[in-house]
Order: sequence, then structure tokens, then C-alpha cells
Amino acid sequence: MNRRNHGIRDPFAHEQVRIRTGPRSGLPVIVAVHSTVLGQAIGGCRIASYAHWQDALTDALRLSAAMTEKTAVAGLPNGGGKTVVALAPGAVLDRPDARGTGTGLDRRGVLHDVADVIAGLDGLYATGPDVGTDPTDMNVIAERTRWVFCRPPEAGGSGDSSTHTATGVVAALGAVCDAAFGSPTMGSRRFAVVGLGRVGAHVARHLAVAGAELVVADIDPTKRHLADELGATWLDPDDALRAEVDVLVPAALGGVFTPETVPLLRCAAIAGPANNQLDEPGTAALLHERGILWAPDFVVSAGGVIYATAVELHHETTEQAVGRLARIGDTVAEVLATARHTGTTPAAVAHQLAARRIEAAAAQRAHDPGRPVAAGTTSGRPGP
Ligand code: PHE
Repeated sequence: MNRRNHGIRDPFAHEQVRIRTGPRSGLPVIVAVHSTVLGQAIGGCRIASYAHWQDALTDALRLSAAMTEKTAVAGLPNGGGKTVVALAPGAVLDRPDARGTGTGLDRRGVLHDVADVIAGLDGLYATGPDVGTDPTDMNVIAERTRWVFCRPPEAGGSGDSSTHTATGVVAALGAVCDAAFGSPTMGSRRFAVVGLGRVGAHVARHLAVAGAELVVADIDPTKRHLADELGATWLDPDDALRAEVDVLVPAALGGVFTPETVPLLRCAAIAGPANNQLDEPGTAALLHERGILWAPDFVVSAGGVIYATAVELHHETTEQAVGRLARIGDTVAEVLATARHTGTTPAAVAHQLAARRIEAAAAQRAHDPGRPVAAGTTSGRPGP
């Protein structure tokens, strides 16, 4: 029998990866479909600078594998994928409404290049927003393929997912505080939010409203006004990472926890929305050895996909979809409790949970190998 690797033990075993130089933009467009065992692969479109396009490929492979675990742990009938467009260091894209005025690359051309690669996958994969893209961009991609989540509500999509991702993170933070300090109350605790992008800023605002003591950081100095607005201490990201806090909230790019940075940490627990926070899976054990509770990123950051799929695929109301986000707190609580009882890391428990769900689906599929991938029907739009 042809035994497929479902990508959990080997995170680099992908179903397919398409790499194409966009004919309009001349940029490398990478779409990695990690797994469709649970259903249509979903994952955002990242447009970011990389020293070499091969670094963007590595990122796409790791981010898509993480999406497979994110959707599996969230109990969604979807697999994992990701799109990455590699910009040269320092390159910027114009906004569509700023054409002719900027000096950057034509954004619309880049997005149409992305759309054509996705369209070529015939519904095996659908994209959404990620670092460097937003709902307006999803609308441009939707001009050439229907496999797009999170278009603006006026265009029939579920809109910006970042507030929902943040709501899920806050639910996770409650569970983490409960496990680490015996109470889910956040008002009496000290947090460091590292990264004030769309999700990080929402989380910081929520924590400030809850009365928490806050340290915030971003590589972009223009974000400092938010620190003043929230009465937070502003630090540069490296110092914020090492700040003495109860909970560290990584909300920027991945790879922040490494054998070099783990010994410098002065937090009791970590939970945040950044994808792929660990440089490699083994770093979870280093955090564990230091007695730092790490809530796995792919569990904590699922709010955006949970909300978008609930509204666009399952036609739930906003209230119903938002209601699902609280369950992220329950899942984090379960993962942390199981890890404590079994003496393993929360990461190991969450990986096993994802693997169990994917293996069960794979076993079911083995009985019916002809079953097509259940592609979603985003926003009830007609088929192609
Ligand atoms: N950026 C989101 C994530 O990492 C991706 C996404 C959100 C995809 C919403 C589809 C819908 O989870």
C-alpha cells in the first residue's frame, strides 16, 4: 500500500509546492500545499522581504505545515497551506490606490500573479490575509480566483480576521494565567507584547482595558504612540523579549525562541499569535527545562481561521463564529493540563492531538480513496 506521510512527523513532507516567477511582477510566488487530508488546505498569503528567495521557500514550507496542525487542533475540516511572495530586502509594494505616485512595485500585479497560481490548484487550497496583506488585497486576488477568505464584508467576505485572532489569543492568555498562576484574571499581571501589528495591537488594547501592566515593542518606531495611548512601557523588541514579566506575548515574525534566546528569558509563561515562534521543534524542550510554560502557537493563533471558516464556509452568524473563539481557551487549558499530568511538553501534547485527528481522517480516506478533497464554497459564491 502506498503509505503517505501526513506531514506531522516530517514537517517538510508536503503534498505539493508550486513556485513560479510571477509574469507581471517578476517576483517568486510560492504556494505550499502541506496537507489536504482533513479537507481543502487553507493559509494566508505573506508578502515579505527575504535575503534569498530560498528563505521564502523555507518559510512557506514551515508555515504551511503549521497551518495543518492549526486547523487540525481547532477541529476544522481543513488542511494546511501557505502562500509566500518574496520581496527583495527593502522593497515595498504600492497600494492599489496609490498607483503612479509611489516608487514601489505594482501591488495589483503581484496579487494577480498570486491568484493565478492559486487558481491553478483547482480548489485544493484557499488563501487569506497574513503578514503584508489585508482584506483589500484579498479582493484583488478574488478578481482571478474564488479561493480566497476574508474579503471585505461589503464584497461578501468575512473581513479582517485580526480582531478574531486577537480574541482567541486573549482566551488563550486566560487559560495560561490560570495554569501558571492559579487564576485566569489578567488585570493583576504583567505582560510584554512583542509586535504591534494588527493582531498584537488588539491584544495589547485588550490587556490594557483589563488593567494589566504592559510592556510593548515593535521594530517600527512609529508604533510608539500606542504605548503612550495604553499607558504601556515602550521597549525595543530585544529588550521586551527579555523583560521580567509574567507572560510574554510574541506577536511579530517567527523564530524568536532559539537555544541562544531561551536562557535570556525572564517570563513565567509564553502565549502569542506569531506563527512558528520556535526556531525548531526541539526548542520546546528547552523552554520546558527552564520551567517556562509555552502555549503552542498553532493552538493560540487559530482565531482567524476559525472565524473565517465559520462565517464563509459554514454560514454562521458573527455571534456564532465569535462564540467559537472562547474554545481556544478550553483547548489551551486541556493541552497544558495533559502536559502537566503526563510530564511532557505542551508542544508534544498539541502535536499528538493534531496527529490523531489527521491519522483518523487518513484512515477514513483509505476506505474511500476516490473521495475528492472537500473544497469549501467561500461566501456562497457560485462555482467557477
Ligand atoms: N494568517 C492566518 C493564519 O496564520 C491565515 C488565515 C486567516 C487564512 C483567515 C484564512 C483565513 O492563521
